[in-house]
Amino acid sequence: MSYMKQSIILRKVAMPPRFENTLKILLTIFLLSISAVLAATTIDPDDDVEKKYYIVYLGNHQPEDEASANRAHIDVLSNLKGSEFDARESIVHSYHKSFNAFAARLSNDEAETLSDYDEVLWMFENKYHKLHTTRSWDFVRFPQSAKRKLKTESNIIVGLFDTGITPESESFKDDGLGPPPTKWRGTCVHHANFSGCNNKIVGARYFKLDNVPDPSDTLSPIDVEGHGTHTSSTLAGTLVPNASLSDLAAGTARGAVPSARIAVYKVCWASSGCSDMDILAAFDHAISDGVDLISISIGGPSAGYVSDSISIGSFHAMRKGILTVGSAGNDGPTSGTVSNHAPWMLSVAASGIDRGFRSKISLGNGNSVSGAGIDLFDSGRSFSIVSGEDVAKNSDNKENARYCLEDSISSSKVKGKLVLCKLQNWGVDSVVKGNGGVGAIVASSRFLDVAMIFMAPGTIVNYTVGEKIYDYIHKSSSPTATIHRSQEVNISAPFIGSFSSRGPNPGSVRLLKPDIAAPGIDILAAYTPLKSLTGLKGDNQHSKFTIMSGTSMACPHAAGVAAYVKSFHPKWSPAAIRSSIVTTARPMSSRLNKDAEFAYGAGQINPLKAKSPGLVYDMDELSYIQFLCKEGYSGASLSVLVGSKSINCSALVPAFGHDSLNYPTMQLKLKNKKEPAMAVFRRRVTNVGPSNSVYNAIVRAPKGVNITVKPTRLSFSRALEMRSFKVVVKANPLSGAKILSASLIWKSSRHVVRSPIVIYKT
Ligand SMILES: *[C@@H]1O[C@H](CO)[C@@H](O)[C@H](O)[C@H]1NC(C)=O
Ligand SMILES: *[C@@H]1O[C@H](CO)[C@@H](O)[C@H](O)[C@H]1NC(C)=O
Ligand SMILES: *[C@@H]1O[C@H](CO)[C@@H](O)[C@H](O)[C@H]1NC(C)=O
Ligand SMILES: *[C@@H]1O[C@H](CO)[C@@H](O)[C@H](O)[C@H]1NC(C)=O
Ligand SMILES: *[C@@H]1O[C@H](CO)[C@@H](O)[C@H](O)[C@H]1NC(C)=O
Ligand SMILES: *[C@@H]1O[C@H](CO)[C@@H](O)[C@H](O)[C@H]1NC(C)=O
Repeated sequence: MSYMKQSIILRKVAMPPRFENTLKILLTIFLLSISAVLAATTIDPDDDVEKKYYIVYLGNHQPEDEASANRAHIDVLSNLKGSEFDARESIVHSYHKSFNAFAARLSNDEAETLSDYDEVLWMFENKYHKLHTTRSWDFVRFPQSAKRKLKTESNIIVGLFDTGITPESESFKDDGLGPPPTKWRGTCVHHANFSGCNNKIVGARYFKLDNVPDPSDTLSPIDVEGHGTHTSSTLAGTLVPNASLSDLAAGTARGAVPSARIAVYKVCWASSGCSDMDILAAFDHAISDGVDLISISIGGPSAGYVSDSISIGSFHAMRKGILTVGSAGNDGPTSGTVSNHAPWMLSVAASGIDRGFRSKISLGNGNSVSGAGIDLFDSGRSFSIVSGEDVAKNSDNKENARYCLEDSISSSKVKGKLVLCKLQNWGVDSVVKGNGGVGAIVASSRFLDVAMIFMAPGTIVNYTVGEKIYDYIHKSSSPTATIHRSQEVNISAPFIGSFSSRGPNPGSVRLLKPDIAAPGIDILAAYTPLKSLTGLKGDNQHSKFTIMSGTSMACPHAAGVAAYVKSFHPKWSPAAIRSSIVTTARPMSSRLNKDAEFAYGAGQINPLKAKSPGLVYDMDELSYIQFLCKEGYSGASLSVLVGSKSINCSALVPAFGHDSLNYPTMQLKLKNKKEPAMAVFRRRVTNVGPSNSVYNAIVRAPKGVNITVKPTRLSFSRALEMRSFKVVVKANPLSGAKILSASLIWKSSRHVVRSPIVIYKT
């Protein structure tokens, strides 16, 4: 028996430089306060012994009710602790609906002892995770007029694990919706400042098992961050005409499935982030409440498939026929950073749409240059402009002042002026404004592909433009500049966001992740009145709709497509739904995105095609277990997924094949730099198109790669008929490229079923 020993604090220190992109910077406060909270909670003031939260898994069988489950859990803990009193003090939650487990605060020694108990199948330490549309649906050619099955769509309940929701938002009006479907067994908790549910938001719960008070949040499903309101409305928001952020991105805001119902599980808190204990509690409830699919825009350090709450929870959801869609993460463009990469999940990268936001900067010398981002101010006035390092508080602060960091610039020198700053931390506009300045021009090599919102007149420029302005400031005797209000511009798209996490999959070399790309850049969706647009000090801009970027925004787009597919095919398995989304994706350009499939997976979501894919690559629970056995997971570690210790991997693993997963994509890692490599992929497709169909194989392979398919023609004479085939990939060693993209297409007169084949080296 083993369990995770690292603490989140160690993890944090060990993490690669994290402040490289959009949400990371937005989340700086977030991450830092996580460690602050943890520092306060991991030391027990009574005995100075370090205690942590552990999740202790006892099996899949479900005791009848919470009381009896809790009693059984107290018994186990009483044995360990020596008294029932201590056991009650240590336990924080009994999971009893979808799996049998508990969360408790334990010392290292206690955890070690408990892990040897017979009844304990698996345990791991609680960690904290982070959070990772008017135009976007039209951009992926999913018009408002798309054919719908309204009756089944309104029976779909989507579960969102996020920061909560804003029930007052127009996006969640329930006009025209009947009562919740009868299968719904969830509840709506009525709590502080949360006005309650309706026929759109049919369920709302919150989980905060660490019980640490959060002064910046409210113990209720209410969303004080805006994140959950935004994702929920993208997925299932009703139509809201004339939505905009102060006239920018104006249009009709709508979710993918405007008739579907929303069940909210608040697991993320303003100060502490999203903990494993809370996420697992949400899965435990959501599965038994009767949600049809789960959208989770949360990520973070994943220690493998069996010690990560999202991976474990989504496996249990999959067993009950529920697909979990997760954000790929905002840690790109570094390779190998993709999160939510379990084979039973759908992992979503963020793409950009054809709408950007630019601000014109007019310089006093008559030149004008272009900046990016959202500036809603329009004074039209020109102001004196200075460069950060020229207005340092004193000579010691010169370096910090270059970046306009807190406490580095002199109020008397910036009063009434614009300041040119280099980007290190987000919020320089707030620092400048706080010192009496007007606003900021931020020079950066990053964030140029997302529109960050400014709380004062401000814009982002690249270094080339930054240097031009810098030169102007230093050559002119009285330099001035005007930043104009942002305007929408047409840009070429789609492209993958620089921040979107990249493959290869750190969990398995044989499995391509991310699976798919969906719009996640500059997305307009509903927002909370409880937070200013930027959350920065001094910001008093508020809006019912706002623009956000991140794989967090891409995830509900893909989850929405999954819900749309499910409304046409309510009986389809999670694997079949995922396959339909993956094989119908629009291919993206590896010329524009050099990381190719590691950036975009199979490509851009294609909702209308996804509902009739022709063929699907289906899979059951056993396939995943066989795959994990092949990946080297042992029977013991698999117990947290299958609920028993008696899994015998040697008996399960088929003797043949490169991988046993009937996945709609294929991936081969080259081990050897000198010799050619070969892989065999066995796959099986199920006919979900017309009964009589004939498909022919079309292979696209780059130079140096030979791919053969056997057979090359698949004939079907009835619905749900299955056909197997074999793909043999031979590849020469890669000289220059790190990744080569090939594909297999099964084509009939009506359908194109495309599977990317990725060959890579590290
Ligand atoms: C409810 O909202 C009011 C006004 O916004 C606020 O003062 C109060 O603290 C909130 N209550 C809770 C429990 O958060
Ligand atoms: C939306 O805005 C347009 C133009 O401003 C106006 O004509 C129309 O009535 C508005 N529609 C709604 C539903 O408010
Ligand atoms: C910098 O931005 C300007 C204006 O948007 C653009 O014309 C230029 O190509 C950019 N330069 C680089 C190196 O990206
Ligand atoms: C952007 O493109 C659309 C059509 O694709 C066009 O109607 C619109 O005028 C363009 N906007 C700009 C700012 O070029
Ligand atoms: C596991 O299965 C293999 C192959 O069927 C068998 O030889 C072995 O005895 C089994 N091990 C256990 C512990 O049952
Ligand atoms: C691919 O096929 C060609 C022609 O049959 C052969 O010359 C080449 O060596 C093959 N390459 C690999 C990597 O197997």
